[in-house]
Amino acid sequence: METVPAQADLYQCPVVESRTVGAYHLIAFVAGEIAAVARPGQFVMIRQSGPALDPLLPRPMGIHAVEADLVKVLVEPVGKGTVVLTDARVGDRYSVLGPLGNGFDLSGEGTAVIVGGGVGMAPLALLAGTLAGRGRDVRCQLGFKTRVQAVAAELFRDVDVDICTEDGTMGRKAMVSELLVECLTDLGPAAAEAELFVCGPGAMMRAAVETAREYGADAQVSVAAHMACGVGACQGCVVRAGGEYRCACNQGPVFRAGELEWR
Ligand SMILES: Cc1cc2nc3c(=O)[nH]c(=O)nc-3n(C[C@H](O)[C@H](O)[C@H](O)COP(=O)(O)OP(=O)(O)OC[C@H]3O[C@@H](n4cnc5c(N)ncnc54)[C@H](O)[C@@H]3O)c2cc1C
Ligand code: FES
Repeated sequence: METVPAQADLYQCPVVESRTVGAYHLIAFVAGEIAAVARPGQFVMIRQSGPALDPLLPRPMGIHAVEADLVKVLVEPVGKGTVVLTDARVGDRYSVLGPLGNGFDLSGEGTAVIVGGGVGMAPLALLAGTLAGRGRDVRCQLGFKTRVQAVAAELFRDVDVDICTEDGTMGRKAMVSELLVECLTDLGPAAAEAELFVCGPGAMMRAAVETAREYGADAQVSVAAHMACGVGACQGCVVRAGGEYRCACNQGPVFRAGELEWR
């Protein structure tokens, strides 16, 4: 995957929707300039506007949906920065830098097998809709720990989704890697022409990539490195890929599975 010249800018964006979706929080804001050019797999760096210095740094959030001049993100509250984001009220203004990153390469033609784990599903919804809109065969599998997270799968409106939970409270009681094996087996010889698009916890992505390799399929993975600047300035987000250190923000976050060195 190549480094993409930045089209990003910093915008002050009013929030027009803010609601809980199970364990996550959906925020929609007006960001016409970002919406006009955003591609699946890109992300924004986001924080509340205003003088508050804590948290100081914006947080990276995958672009979950684009509708007209609206950009939507889906936030899992895991720490101070994300909990503050879930306090968003309609009318609040957010400081949004984006769109950032390379996004997924959509040029393939084989069956697109989308594999998401937990909130890693967030950027995959835009991807699924875009690929389906182009007429590509799309198979989508999402795995969650439990029902309160899995209900967010309702946000996938454009494609059928196979859901599993670890405790069986929604969808199949299984790991998403099991669904993936079934999907690739079901594809038969076409599995070798398929392409995986993966986003989720590290262990899950690694298992998905290993399965793809066994079936001869390509895979693109979106990594969730810790980020401070989002634009290649701080070197805080480096990953090993292609035998060198690369910034996940402006040389990723999407990498070909074959070039990524797992740690
Ligand atoms: C390109 C990209 C896209 C992302 N998209 C989304 C998204 O759509 N929705 C979403 O909810 N989250 C997303 N994340 C992860 C999100 O940015 C982090 O969870 C967030 O920055 C944590 O900030 P915090 O202050 O709440 O947590 P902190 O207090 O900083 O950390 C809380 C816990 O989360 C872990 N953590 C912190 N940052 C990351 C990270 N980048 N990846 C994984 N674990 C982390 C910490 O190790 C710690 O255990 C994305 C990350 C990247 C790099
Ligand atoms: S987040 Fe600063 S270089 Fe990537």
